[in-house]
Amino acid sequence: MKRILALIFFLLPFSAQAQVSSFSTWVNSRGSILTVFLVDPGTGVFTGTYVNKAAGFQCQGVPYVASGVAKGTSVTFTVNWKGILVPDCHSTTVWTGRSIGPALKTRWKLDYIGSDGKPHVLYGKDVFAKQ
Ligand code: BTN
Repeated sequence: MKRILALIFFLLPFSAQAQVSSFSTWVNSRGSILTVFLVDPGTGVFTGTYVNKAAGFQCQGVPYVASGVAKGTSVTFTVNWKGILVPDCHSTTVWTGRSIGPALKTRWKLDYIGSDGKPHVLYGKDVFAKQ
């Protein structure tokens, strides 16, 4: 029993560290950067910015508003790729995932209007590392 308690107390800081917290920065394997500003401690709702640096995509290198919810280790956030003084890519991405240690493992869905003027959907995965 003592050993189990000791293990829990040993592991607790690691699980706490994993969660998306206020003023945290996360970089994915494509080089994109999620910056989280304030996380509401009651609801887990947060806002921040997302700078897309992924090759093969548009709307790169400028900050877009990111908004989401982080509860325990589960995280969902959305970027609508339009804003003031930034290009409008007529698209929206939703990431859903979990923070595991210093990593945030997500799946995403990108809804966009293609050059044919029709709606399209793209799915993928992103792994973010806490900076
Ligand atoms: C667009 O090209 O319509 C807008 C930019 C989309 C960028 C995508 S979102 C999922 C993937 N992960 C990234 O960091 N960037 C791409």
